[in-house]
Order: sequence, then structure tokens, then C-alpha cells
Amino acid sequence: MQNKRRKGFLWILLFLTLTACQYKVKTLKEKKIKKDCLEEQMYRPIIHFSPQKNWMNDPNGMFYFKGKYHLYFQYHPKSNVWGPMHWGHATSKDLINWEEQPIALYPDELGTIFSGSIVVDHNNTSGFGTPDTPPIIAIYTNHDGAAEKEGSLFFQTQSLAYSLDEGQTWIKYSKNPVIKNSGIRDFRDPKVLWYEKEQKWILTLAAGQQTQFFVSNNLKEWRYLSSFGEGIGNHNGVWECPDLFKLPLKGTEEIKWVHLVSINLGGPNGGSATQYFVGDFDGKQFVVDPLFESKMKRNHDFWIDFGKDNYAGVTFSNWKSAAAGVLFLGWMSNWEYANVVPTTLWRGTMTLGRELELFKTQQGEYRLRSIAPSNWDSYVTKTVKKEKQAVNKTTQLLAKNTIDLSAARIQTTLSGLENTQVNFELANNKGDTLVFGYDSKKDQFFIDRGQSGKTNFSENFSKTPSLAPRQSTEENLEIEIFLDKTSIELFFDKGTTVMTEIFFPNAPFETLTLRSSDSKIGLEHLVVQELKKQNK
Ligand code: FRU
Repeated sequence: MQNKRRKGFLWILLFLTLTACQYKVKTLKEKKIKKDCLEEQMYRPIIHFSPQKNWMNDPNGMFYFKGKYHLYFQYHPKSNVWGPMHWGHATSKDLINWEEQPIALYPDELGTIFSGSIVVDHNNTSGFGTPDTPPIIAIYTNHDGAAEKEGSLFFQTQSLAYSLDEGQTWIKYSKNPVIKNSGIRDFRDPKVLWYEKEQKWILTLAAGQQTQFFVSNNLKEWRYLSSFGEGIGNHNGVWECPDLFKLPLKGTEEIKWVHLVSINLGGPNGGSATQYFVGDFDGKQFVVDPLFESKMKRNHDFWIDFGKDNYAGVTFSNWKSAAAGVLFLGWMSNWEYANVVPTTLWRGTMTLGRELELFKTQQGEYRLRSIAPSNWDSYVTKTVKKEKQAVNKTTQLLAKNTIDLSAARIQTTLSGLENTQVNFELANNKGDTLVFGYDSKKDQFFIDRGQSGKTNFSENFSKTPSLAPRQSTEENLEIEIFLDKTSIELFFDKGTTVMTEIFFPNAPFETLTLRSSDSKIGLEHLVVQELKKQNK
């Protein structure tokens, strides 16, 4: 009898435990769904590309073809942290609204698929296509992780794949690799260009603390040409993701060559960043402009972007703007904290596409300017304008409920800035603020995300504000700002200085306030456009 009772009791206990467990699982599941929904709602960008799921880093193989922009990217399909790299793929008609495509390249017996580039082989020099169907050629780094672990120095090689269906599916070349490693640990990220003058292909590669140039007639056989980088530029980190392209000096017939080299660590505000060099390329060698050689050697402040979150960016191939500029796009993160930023469903977002322009400073120095995209008409759902006015030390520019700042373009011009500091402050109802602005005494811009919400996932995220020297000598300060849930892109002085950073507020920012250390500054104008995707 007692046994029976005990059994009965045990059954009831089991039943209760199971029910409690089920309840717990259910609530955990519900909690997770709630958290995921919140994350989607609060952090999923609207006007930038982010993958539906999992980890993304560098943009790869970007090209334009038949009205479509193709963006491939370093992708780990099984995890939200970096791992065995694949090439993800997305396409867009306007660089704003992206459609994710099936994975383009999977790891193979030569290794995982690291960064690289794509060209359209219009003349079918490779023989993989026909004159009617020019093959699309991808050249990328194969990374052999096992060989690396064994201590080999030969674990990164360059390989080729081609596509005969406009970049949708890919066939790996049977004789890969096309460039073997001669014993250089960091030997990667090939970027290919068509060198019109001599009708041949040039490949730029990161090789240790230098870049190397190779030449080919058919994209399959490559010959080493020269190296660049010894004793010049920033060497406080690994050289990665180079690019080489020619660019006219804006408004003239003069042609220069620009060489981009990403570096991790060693950026101007810590961690990853992209430096550039301006000079000449004769089909064999890149030589820095002699006028600035010493400056580029001494104090290298030639950065594409001074914010902490624009890395590994390169230019699109097969694209020409009316101004014959180049189109650039980067990864909006930094290796200092990329793996731990507080999104879990996906990790990684790209910057907006930016046209790069070459200009000369008053001192006759060549510099790059980034031109922000301007094709927003079909995304604007509301506009707020303010006319010229004097501003007090504290002026609220946008009150709560004036406009949705989730994704927005803000254009403004300030005057009377001598000896003042101006702060723009975005704020929400949780007490988070993102502050950015200009200190005219130091002639420098800044972004301070120290109080911007979730920051303690990495001590490098917001230790100190990020700073950027002002290049322009204009009296008035023109600023164009793009906000998109977790990112800010600041184009100062028509893109002469750019700062891009990410942030993770506890609630959406709702108000914008301008504070200045002096009451003499003027707001020349302000236009705020709310941006939304309108069922496109
Ligand atoms: C740059 C980089 C590249 C490499 C890739 C690996 O962020 O380190 O040099 O090809 O990422 O994912």
C-alpha cells in the first residue's frame, strides 16, 4: 500500500516537473521570440545591407552589371561570429534596397573563401565564356586553416571561379590556385583591374607589410611585377584588402592613381581603418606622389574615414559614374569588437555606397572626398525644414514625435564657429545620448558614443571619443548625416572628412539638440528627411 502511494506521489512529481519544464521552455521560447522581434525592430538597418542571419564581414567582389549592383561578402552561414568563410551574395538596383541571394562560394579542398574581387571579362580573355556571354570572374583567397595550424606559411593562395549567369552561380577553376604562396603569412585579398592602356589585367594583393602587383593577359596566369609600402604609410597592423584605381583630379584632365590599404590594428581612433595613397601607376609600379611622399611617410593621416566603423572597403568594378569617379563601400564594424556587438540574429552591416572624388587642398595636396548618395526621393516619407536662425547655447532642433529618426538624412550648415565647440546630441527616453560635432579651437570633429546605450560589450567600443582633423578651410560648416537604427555616417564639408560609427541604444533616439559653447553661432538651414522602405 505504501509502495503504491509512493509510486503515485512520484508520478505526480514527474508530471509537475514536466509541466514546469514545458512551461519554462515555452516561456524561454516566447522570451527568445520577443527578444528577436525587439532586436529586429530596434537594430535591423533600413537603408543599409545586413544579412538576414548570422555573421558578415568584408564586402567582396562588388561589381555593376546590367542595371544591378552585386555585393558579395565574407559570410559564416552557421554562426553569428567569424568562422569558416563563404561568400554571401546580395543584389540591388539602387544600393539602398538589397535582396539577399543564395551563397555564392563555399569552402573547398584548398580552404575557406577569404576576400577577393570580381571583374567582367568583356573580351573573354580567360576563355571561360563567349563574346556574347562575357564570363564574370572572381579571384579570391583560399585560406587553408589546417595548414595554418600546422605552422605552415603557405596557407593563403589565390584562386579563380567564373560565372556564366551574371554572378548567380559559380564554377571553380580546375587549376586553382592561380597564385601560389611564396612563404608570406598574410598573403591575401586580391583586387583585379583592367589596365586599359596596355590591355592587361593587374592584380593588387596584400602581402605582409606591403602590397604586391601582378600582371596577366588571361586572369589565369599571373606574373609578379613589384611591391609597395616599405617605409611608407601606417604599419601598426596587418595590411589587408588593397585596391588600386585611377581617378581624375576633379574638374581637370589630370589623372592620378589611388591605392587603398586597410589596416588592422592601427586606425586613427583605434582598431581597423582604411588608409590611402595618391600617386602614379605605369603598368608596373605604384609610386606615391613625390610632393607628399615625406608627409605620407611621417604622419599618415590619409584615411578614407576617421570613424571606427568603416573597414575593408574597396570599389565596384564595371561601374562608371557621369563624373568618372569610383564607387566605394565598406564593412561597418571594427575587428576590436565586431564579434561581440549586441546583435545576435545577424552581425554585420555595410556602409552606404559612396563615390570617391580626388581634389587638391589649398596647399596643393591631393586628397579624397567621399560623396554621399543622393537618390533618396523614393524613400522620403516626411521632411522637416528649419530656416536660417540664431541659436542659443542649447537649441532643440527636433522635439519628440516631430519625425522618426530610425533612418534619416539630415543636412545642415552652421556659421559663426570661431572659438566654439558645437555638439549635436541625439537622445532617447532612456537617457542614452549620441554626441557628435566640431571643436573649432582644435579644428577637429568628434563622435562620442560613451553614453549611447549598450557599450560595455567591449572596452574598446567607447573608451574615448573618436576624433578627426578638419581638412576644409571653409568658414561655414556643412554636414550631411545618415542615421539608420545603429549607425551614423557623417559627411563633413561635402565629404572632405567622413566619420562612420555604430551604436546600440536601449530605445530609438527621438530628439536632436544643438549645444554650443557660445551663443553667436548661426543655423543657416536644416533639412531632415525621414527615410522608409515603401513596399518596393
Ligand atoms: C579583413 C580580413 C581579410 C580576410 C577576411 C577574412 O577584414 O581579415 O584580410 O580576407 O577578413 O574574413
